[in-house]
Amino acid sequence: MSTPDYDELMQPVIGFLGCETPKAWLDEALNNLELLMQDHANCEKKAAGTAMNLMFRYSFFTDLQVKLAQLVREEMLHYEQVLEFMAKRGQEWKAVSAGRYAGGLRKEIRTYEPEALVDVLIIGAFVEARSCERFYALAPLVDEELGRYYRYLLKSESRHYEDYLALALDVAKTAKMKKPEEDIQERIAHIREVEKNLILDPDDTFRFHSGVPATVAA
Ligand SMILES: [Fe+2]
Ligand SMILES: [Fe+2]
Repeated sequence: MSTPDYDELMQPVIGFLGCETPKAWLDEALNNLELLMQDHANCEKKAAGTAMNLMFRYSFFTDLQVKLAQLVREEMLHYEQVLEFMAKRGQEWKAVSAGRYAGGLRKEIRTYEPEALVDVLIIGAFVEARSCERFYALAPLVDEELGRYYRYLLKSESRHYEDYLALALDVAKTAKMKKPEEDIQERIAHIREVEKNLILDPDDTFRFHSGVPATVAA
């Protein structure tokens, strides 16, 4: 795949997000590649876990089962691949705490159904889109082998973003929400703003989904 194809693939993803990754985060990432890799591994495992939990919690939505089963498989494969990368590069497993990102987004989940599920799925779309956008931004800056891997990953993450978004609409319609399309558009706009702030606000803790490094922002 040539570069222009990636640009085309990225267009809807970047259009969906409220902002692009700031340069200050990318600089920080290049100085913390081991931490980035470890947190990336954690993210893949968590992505699989989140999808698996949804499968159990909402076993009555058939479409959700099929899409999420595939997603779990792919995220677990990514997890294995990142672990392989770490082993190959002599990087030891290290316990790394979670950053503020996922928790900051989860706070927005409404407390009643089916709105709660719709919100979880929209948040899933944002996390996948952001991961995709970060892999795209990082790919030309890291070494060739890792860059190639990030480009490979961004293809699945862009599909995951689309899947989560389609599922959100599907659930809203199946659950007969009054105005499914309007509700979803409104939630997307709201969560877009929250996600953008998590990416642009100063952040003390560098992680895969962290904000602008506080030392730079200060
Ligand atoms: Fe993944
Ligand atoms: Fe993913």
